[in-house]
Order: sequence, then C-alpha cells, then structure tokens
Amino acid sequence: MASGLTVAVVGATGAAGQTTLKILEERKFPVRELRAFASERSVGTTVTFRGEPVPVRRIEAAAFTGVDFAFCSAGSAQSREYAPMIVKAGATVIDKSNAFRMDPTVPLVVPEINAHAARQHRGILACPNCTTIVAVMPLKPLHDAGRLTRVIATSYQAVSGAGVKGIAELREQTLAWARGETLVPRHFPHQIAFNLIPHIDTFGADGYTAEEMKLVNETRKILETPDLKITPTTVRVPVFTCHSIAVTAETEAKISAARARDLFARFPGLRLWDEPAQNRYPMPIAVEGQDDCFVGRIREDLSSANGVTFWVVGDQLRKGAATNAVQIAELLLR
Ligand code: A2P
Repeated sequence: MASGLTVAVVGATGAAGQTTLKILEERKFPVRELRAFASERSVGTTVTFRGEPVPVRRIEAAAFTGVDFAFCSAGSAQSREYAPMIVKAGATVIDKSNAFRMDPTVPLVVPEINAHAARQHRGILACPNCTTIVAVMPLKPLHDAGRLTRVIATSYQAVSGAGVKGIAELREQTLAWARGETLVPRHFPHQIAFNLIPHIDTFGADGYTAEEMKLVNETRKILETPDLKITPTTVRVPVFTCHSIAVTAETEAKISAARARDLFARFPGLRLWDEPAQNRYPMPIAVEGQDDCFVGRIREDLSSANGVTFWVVGDQLRKGAATNAVQIAELLLR
C-alpha cells in the first residue's frame, strides 16, 4: 500500500492547499496519483506537484473513485457539502475547515498530542484551527506535568490565515501606501497594512469572537479537559505567515521557568529559542517555512503563584494546517 496512494487535495489553489502539495512532496508521502480540486473558477487551470502540472478538476462524486486520502481546505461550507460524498466514494477525509471539529464522532487531532483519538475515526478526521494548534503544542507538556487550570492567550495572526485574499490585501495595501494612494479594505473589516485588527470571525453575544471560541473549545477537546478555563483575544496583524501567541498558563502544581524550558525542549515538534541576552526568541520571519513550533520568552508569571508566561510562534500554513494534516495521514498509515 505504501508504494502508492491516490490522494486528492480539495482547495488545491488556495493557501493551505498549495502548502499541502508542498508538504506531501517534502515528506515523501507515498502518492502514486494526485488529483487536484478547487472551485468552478479554477477548473481547467493547473497546479504543480513534483514539478509536473496537475489539472484542477470539478468536485463531483465520480472524481473521487479510488481516492485513498482527501485533504480538504476549501472552506467550511464546502467541507460540509462535499466531505460526506468523498467518504461515500471510499476515501478518508482529513478536513482543515471548521465544519466537523466539534462533532463528537469526529476526532480532532494533533498527532504529537492525541494520536490515540485518530483511531476512532469514521471516515472524517478534523485538523484544529491554526491558532489552536500553535497554542496547544506547548500547553500539552505543561498539562502533563502540572495539570492546567487556566489559560490566557493573545494571538497575533498572519494574513495568510485568511487565505490568498488576505495575502493579496496586505500586499496591495502596502504597495498603495508606498505610492501615496488611499488604502481600501476589501477582505478585512479595516485597513490591515500598518494596523492591528482585534476582530477575526463573527462576534458572539458575550463579546468573544468565533475565532476565540475555536481556541477555547478545540483546546478542551484535544487535551480532554472539558472544564479548562481559557480566555483568548485573537488579533489579525500585518504579517504574511506565522501565528504568534502570548500565553499565560496556570497549573495545579507549580512549574518553574527552568522546568517549563526543559518540558518544551523535550516535546516533539516544539523547539526552544529562549536566549534573551542574545536577542534570541521566536519571530514570524525566522519561523516561516519550518514545521516545528518555537517557544521563547519563558518566565514565571509575576501576578500568580502557579503561572508561567511564554511566547510561541508557528507557521500556520504548515504545522497549523498542511503539515498537521499530512501527519494525520501518516499516522493512519502506520
Ligand atoms: P478557487 O481558487 O477556485 O477559488 P484560500 O483559503 O486561500 O482562500 O483558498 C480557498 C480554496 O478553496 C481555493 O482552492 C478555492 O478555489 C477553493 N474554493 C473556494 N470556494 C469553493 C467552492 N465553492 N467549491 C470548491 N472549492 C472552492
């Protein structure tokens, strides 16, 4: 089987889909045949896989016959519509959208954290939200060592988290600014160049956004801590790639800064960049293009007895999306 699988990438022209093609190639995922899918607009165009052009196809049941794995990143509405059809055609769906994450019958998987959950799948496995993945990677070793009681998290999220339109908007507004032209918001609710927007997704009645509630609910599901207290603030920033998160985590048992450093350094998929005297800490431009999440600025919380505060950065198109999705497929193959 490992010598050749038929793999579908749904949303292959998008930011996460393009990264999925790259990661399948980089990790030498055993692809015998690759089928690319996107919207009607892209049918007839091509994407590139292993240096070869692959035609973009229309999404229809017959096109999924013989597919082993389908990686879906075409949006929640599309996943809701197409994933059941793709499963019926015989494929295992690894879905990057929000459509099935909180469905109790669908595993929500970060392979380093809850690989066991993947075994219970019924055809669909969900990849968490990109900010959740980057945040939960360092939370897991702290939880195992001291039992988390409360998490305060503020995110600084790249425009590519909003897809190709988000990337284009930051680029266009930056060029318009350099030409002295008026900056017109099209995709984001306000100007994103030279600005911060503390608003991602829709607001709920309690004042939290849907993006913030993803971090709350998905972290609880992944860590199997339904009552964990979490208060997030998610912010869109004028950065092309990588989500950064400032986290304060409180635990039942005190974890010193030195112990936290040691726990992070040993956890698979996490790397430590914590040498403040050398100005060395994770930043988006240094982390972009890497699969690990990087932690730094580790210190004990001045305001609580059992708190540790840190800064974590991850390439959200890779570990926050494509890499995590391909790792899930690798897990199923083992
Ligand atoms: P297309 O390029 O044809 O619009 P991103 O997250 O970067 O915005 O990418 C979204 C991906 O989902 C793209 O590949 C896009 O294809 C695809 N997509 C968007 N709407 C649909 C749809 N209604 N049906 C299928 N694919 C879609």
